[in-house]
Amino acid sequence: MEEAVSPERAVEAVRDGFVAYARGEWTMPPKVYVPAYPAGDFRAMPALGAGHALLKWVTSFPGNPARGLPTVMGVVLVSDATNGVPRALLDAAAVTALRTGAAAVLAAETVGRPDAETAAVIGAGVNGRAVARTFVARGRLPLVWDLDEVRSEAVAGELGCGVAPSRDEARAADLVVTVTPAREALFAPGSLRPGQHVSLMGADGPEKAEIAIEELARVRVFCDDWEQASHNGDLAHAVEAGVVRRHDVTELGAVLAGMAEGRRSPREATAFDSTGLAIQDLAIALAALERLDDLDGVPAIEL
Ligand SMILES: NC(=O)c1ccc[n+]([C@@H]2O[C@H](COP(=O)([O-])OP(=O)(O)OC[C@H]3O[C@@H](n4cnc5c(N)ncnc54)[C@H](O)[C@@H]3O)[C@@H](O)[C@H]2O)c1
Repeated sequence: MEEAVSPERAVEAVRDGFVAYARGEWTMPPKVYVPAYPAGDFRAMPALGAGHALLKWVTSFPGNPARGLPTVMGVVLVSDATNGVPRALLDAAAVTALRTGAAAVLAAETVGRPDAETAAVIGAGVNGRAVARTFVARGRLPLVWDLDEVRSEAVAGELGCGVAPSRDEARAADLVVTVTPAREALFAPGSLRPGQHVSLMGADGPEKAEIAIEELARVRVFCDDWEQASHNGDLAHAVEAGVVRRHDVTELGAVLAGMAEGRRSPREATAFDSTGLAIQDLAIALAALERLDDLDGVPAIEL
């Protein structure tokens, strides 16, 4: 997947996917969570668009790295939507990383300040690395910070970016992306500066939180998909508490499609809540299929 789809291509593909979904050209039945708590959960994520249907069967098992296993694993099945013939089976971890990196950076570039200078990624696991890699591909060198110093150093060393000296310094960047399974908010009430942007990628299930409810109620909020984010994202806590409602939140795809207003002023603090969408996976899967003939060593199997 990494060979087939560069981070730059991933950003383009994910942008097109968000726009196609906002315009109603692509469809996405709700993601189904299959809980296996406290260990983790499985997600079945379908989408349909551009003549293809996709199903991602994927995990989030936050305790896995301690056992030497990835948090996110599974497969993506792509079928021809004109006749149902299966076309490809892709690695879900790689598809997820590419589209998560793309969405985090796309949101930061779309609703963050155009003159933003500094960027930081908090959480340097599999998907944090993907976000940092996408920032680098888009011409920014982010600072990386992780509770586990070895991980921040590994990602920073690989990508040629810096390690933030402290969590506070990472939190102070103009564009911040959080990609952690944190249960305690990384952003306390009143912590986002005027004009600052944060893409909240980590909180995509119960009990996870990367921002305080009060802070979400205070800043301008964008999300990937209201249905999903208001049930399983950081937004879910704020919606439950009754401090954020549907009309307070703008979907990123609507902004990208020119159907809704993005940032309104240089002083607006913005937050993007992401739970991860199957249409993003579809966008990446299609970008990979475009390259199929150019790649060596892709196993062909009769399905
Ligand atoms: N929104 C999306 O599209 C999307 C996509 C993939 C993963 N996720 C979520 O993102 C999170 C991270 O996924 P991953 O695959 O990178 O996991 P991972 O286990 O590979 O990495 C998580 C990293 O976060 C670090 N961490 C934990 N708590 C922290 C804290 N409070 N501050 C800083 N660092 C902290 C860990 O040390 C680890 O390095 C998970 O919650 C996952 O479910 C969301």
